[in-house]
Amino acid sequence: MTAQIIDGKRIAAEVREYLQQQTTRRVADGKRAPGLAVILVGQDPASGVYVNNKRKACEQVGFVSRSYDLPENTRQDQLLALIDELNDAKDIDGILVQLPLPEHIDSASVIEKINPDKDVDGFHPYNIGRLAQRIPVLSPCTPKGIMTLVRSTGVRTQGLHAVIVGASNIVGRPMGLELLLAGCTTTTCHRFTKDLQQHVAQADLLIVAVGKPGFIPGDWIKPGAIVIDVGINRLENGKLVGDVDFETAKEQAGFITPVPGGVGPMTIASLLENTLFACEQYHR
Ligand code: GUN
Repeated sequence: MTAQIIDGKRIAAEVREYLQQQTTRRVADGKRAPGLAVILVGQDPASGVYVNNKRKACEQVGFVSRSYDLPENTRQDQLLALIDELNDAKDIDGILVQLPLPEHIDSASVIEKINPDKDVDGFHPYNIGRLAQRIPVLSPCTPKGIMTLVRSTGVRTQGLHAVIVGASNIVGRPMGLELLLAGCTTTTCHRFTKDLQQHVAQADLLIVAVGKPGFIPGDWIKPGAIVIDVGINRLENGKLVGDVDFETAKEQAGFITPVPGGVGPMTIASLLENTLFACEQYHR
């Protein structure tokens, strides 16, 4: 069997097209365009690339993008003061602080400082709590984008056994909530999981987010499964690969996301969706 490729690049472009139309309509109605502030602290090259992609995507759909590139030695109180200022800014609907932050800054304090109504990453404990209770919410962008990709397959999620490999705050744990709400039976695997292969083999829907190239070999995968690869790993030869061994996995899976061009573009599309939602829901 050769899997159908889930084309995240195309689906993300469709989402962006819709958001651009909505923004044009807002502005034609005399309302302001949604505004997103993106804060990067330090010089991490991968974070720099992600942040630039987010800023570019924002401008492409007609949102206002405000950029803050702060030095590595920024103090926590300086960052918190900037967030306070942005919490009060009338033209800003979303505040995104790119993670990871330098070690001397406590990420949890920074996330909790963001007004939950402007928390377009969906990381604030208030928004995670709302997600757990199925109240409409700003929800974490990567899991939100993955749900769009899964829906695009047309496969009914109710009753599927979803197995998530990786239990981070950004992907694995909120992913478990989203899939539970979608009617899946969920298993979350992590570094202490015994016999990972046996869990992976049970997955009708497999989500892998560990950041290790080719971590899941194709012959572990249940024939016909939906495979979502969140990893973006750069090899020494410069090639980008996922956490799943794509060449062998596509012979087993029913559907699979490529790397690049799978989950990555959807994370950004979901961030833009959250920013428009925050604008319309909370700030007008
Ligand atoms: N670092 C890796 N992924 C993300 C994300 O989705 N949001 C933020 N703020 N930082 C990240």
